Amino acid sequence: MVGNWKMNGNLRENAELLAKVVAGWQGEHSAEVVICPPFPYLMHANSVLSGSTILLGAQTVSEHDSGAYTGEVSGSMLADLDCKFVIIGHNERRRMRSETDEQVAHQFAAVQRAGLIPILCVGESLQDREQGRHLETISRQLSAVFAYTGKAVFKHAVLAYEPVWAVGTGKTATPEQAEEVHRFMRAQLEELASEVRILYGGSVKAHNAQQLFALPDIDGALLGGASLDADEFLAICKAAD
Ligand code: 13P
Repeated sequence: MVGNWKMNGNLRENAELLAKVVAGWQGEHSAEVVICPPFPYLMHANSVLSGSTILLGAQTVSEHDSGAYTGEVSGSMLADLDCKFVIIGHNERRRMRSETDEQVAHQFAAVQRAGLIPILCVGESLQDREQGRHLETISRQLSAVFAYTGKAVFKHAVLAYEPVWAVGTGKTATPEQAEEVHRFMRAQLEELASEVRILYGGSVKAHNAQQLFALPDIDGALLGGASLDADEFLAICKAAD
């Protein structure tokens, strides 16, 4: 379960949210939980989460390792702050920051060079979906990374399917729609098909999580809005457990 806080929170709210989540997630669990706060709060979140089983992740990364890249954050900086995962290729960045498939491939490699695990997001627009081109889009987004890194490195990666039209809209993909894409993504991984975790993201809430987790090719969820509410987030994590 990955909570992507996006650009939300402040020190006071984060402290409260993290304390509730840590308190509600004591002991042993089969589900792995990751929280991805905005960059300025990683250090604080790291200190609150230390001693818990909840892992830390970041929301994006530079494709470069160091140098004159004002405003950018490198994989090694994230590793320094105990991040274990980095979300890359999120549709909000592909659309609003014009990140290309090639840039995403370079970011994927940068995350792995830093010893971290990329969570590679792919997903089609509403137009692609309506025109029946969703699998074509997913295939293009995945192929750009495969072409740059090869497939073997996906052994140390997580994939996430986030249909753009389902993110933050309250509209979830139907189980059939989600399962079709997840099965397709798994098939693209060939020999690694059974080893790579594929998450679903897009308006996952406590009331629809169970139904999605019951699908054979869905291994977990990438949560936006639901990760900002401790009770909702914990209910979903427990459903996954
Ligand atoms: P919502 O859960 O708010 O739809 O966001 C999903 C998402 O974009 C997670 O990365």
